[in-house]
Amino acid sequence: MTAERQPIGVIGTGYVGLVTAAGFAELGSEVWCVDIDAAKVERLRRGEVPIYEPGLEELLAKHSGRLHFSTDLAQALEHTRLLFVAVGTPPTYSGDADLSAVHAVVDAIPASDAHALVMKSTVPCGTGAAIQRVLAERGKDGLGYVSCPEFLKEGSAVQDFMNPDRVVVGDGGDWAGDAVVELYSPLQAPLVRTDIASAEMVKLASNAFLATKISFINEIANVCEETHADVVEVARGMGLDGRIGPKFLQAGIGFGGSCFPKDVDALKQLAGNSGYHFQLLTAVIEVNELQKRRVIAKLQKHLGGLVGKRIALLGLAFKPNTDDMREASSLVLSARLNADGALVSAYDPVAEDEARTLISGLRFAESAMDALTDADAIVLVTEWPSSWRSTGARSPSR
Ligand SMILES: NC(=O)c1ccc[n+]([C@@H]2O[C@H](COP(=O)([O-])OP(=O)(O)OC[C@H]3O[C@@H](n4cnc5c(N)ncnc54)[C@H](O)[C@@H]3O)[C@@H](O)[C@H]2O)c1
Repeated sequence: MTAERQPIGVIGTGYVGLVTAAGFAELGSEVWCVDIDAAKVERLRRGEVPIYEPGLEELLAKHSGRLHFSTDLAQALEHTRLLFVAVGTPPTYSGDADLSAVHAVVDAIPASDAHALVMKSTVPCGTGAAIQRVLAERGKDGLGYVSCPEFLKEGSAVQDFMNPDRVVVGDGGDWAGDAVVELYSPLQAPLVRTDIASAEMVKLASNAFLATKISFINEIANVCEETHADVVEVARGMGLDGRIGPKFLQAGIGFGGSCFPKDVDALKQLAGNSGYHFQLLTAVIEVNELQKRRVIAKLQKHLGGLVGKRIALLGLAFKPNTDDMREASSLVLSARLNADGALVSAYDPVAEDEARTLISGLRFAESAMDALTDADAIVLVTEWPSSWRSTGARSPSR
């Protein structure tokens, strides 16, 4: 897959932006990446990859000749027509999505009939329409706009880019939508071409549904504990039903990460702002919060109090195969254990550097076995495979 294809710009070189850049480079495009973080851009230019994502470092190295990194949007504008926007949209205190980075991009882009913004960032339904309104008010209505939500999963993001379950393109039926469809065509994925608002909602609804599945199986697990059923067997029996499927039926400590918590909140707020009370999502969020704290209650019950007790946390990242600590359950757990007087040790094969910046008051162990030394209780927080060291995975270069 190396035939020369249309060049693209990628604005924001985080998990989504870098994987999108590497993926389209693999499909044959020259890619012009822009980020406001000058230090990050410098590292990327030197060939360093600031995040841990399996296969990403190799793919970026393979296509280093086709990948350009800069803080200057003008370069991307000069060489490309489609600008994929992959900046962060974190939650605000109210739970709404913070769109300030998206708006900074909209502000920075000049009037043009030759360019289009392709929104990869997850934004509330209605954002595309609002951006088009702003562009028109500023005399920039020549710019195209396409919603192309991203569904990759951290930990298998490169694999997901190359083998998507579907590609969703929301647009007004113009050249920009056609160009995005053409770019993705080598992947031969099912295409959902629709209007902008529907594309935005596909993303939010998909994440909300998956989060609901997790909270559902966690509640089933809690009932299983009371009724002596084994939730692993229950999930297996349920998952074999083709209507249900086995994915996202692993009971555990609750969902975290940079997407589910914020996207579920954002959809709930979006519904509320439109006058609809999304009761189901309110419950999904509450179950998830309680699930993290349930671990503390269990430890207290089994250890007869936590003061001076040695607790080992195995894994800190919000899920295996990533160094991402955003909204990781380990943040709540370690803070609660500390507050209750426990002595906490933890081991994570990849996320330790990131965790050190976020968690204080615990001992970072050299290995899983080291973390377990003299432990009164062990909490399996992240399901890293025990064979991690021998799978060829490596620490990120940061
Ligand atoms: N991480 C995921 O698994 C995932 C999956 C699907 C969708 N998304 C969505 O994709 C978006 C990006 O997520 P991420 O995890 O890649 O974020 P990230 O925080 O890893 O990366 C965002 C990047 O954007 C840069 N940036 C911020 N403002 C900028 C600007 N004005 N111009 C240029 N660069 C700018 C930041 O410096 C950073 O490098 C979010 O909306 C997220 O919800 C994320």
